[in-house]
Amino acid sequence: ICGASWVGQIIPQKPPFEGRIYSLKVECGDRYPEQPPTVRFLSKINMTCVNSSNGVVDLKAVPVLAKWKNSYCIRTVLQELRNLMCSKENSRLSQPPEGQMYGN
Ligand SMILES: *[C@@H]1O[C@H](CO)[C@@H](O)[C@H](O)[C@H]1NC(C)=O
Repeated sequence: ICGASWVGQIIPQKPPFEGRIYSLKVECGDRYPEQPPTVRFLSKINMTCVNSSNGVVDLKAVPVLAKWKNSYCIRTVLQELRNLMCSKENSRLSQPPEGQMYGN
């Protein structure tokens, strides 16, 4: 799977994200799984760990990426992001309208 990229989806169950479908792109570089994948939201979202201009997830701000283990998989990352959406700090942010995407 070196160099592979995946488009995943997160469908959160809690407000303010519930019922929305978030697409994101996960890219596994040449050194995966020794190094964490890079993750970028395609759907616009307001989260403390996501760059608001391009959707790139800050690896340092997401515990499973910051302390990556080669036993983790993409599912681990998607679950962690879904949990982070429900965190206190993210659940009170105002969200962009549903369905907006970042440009490229
Ligand atoms: C994120 O939420 C905060 C707090 O509601 C708001 O001030 C900010 O403009 C929002 N950012 C984006 C990119 O929507």
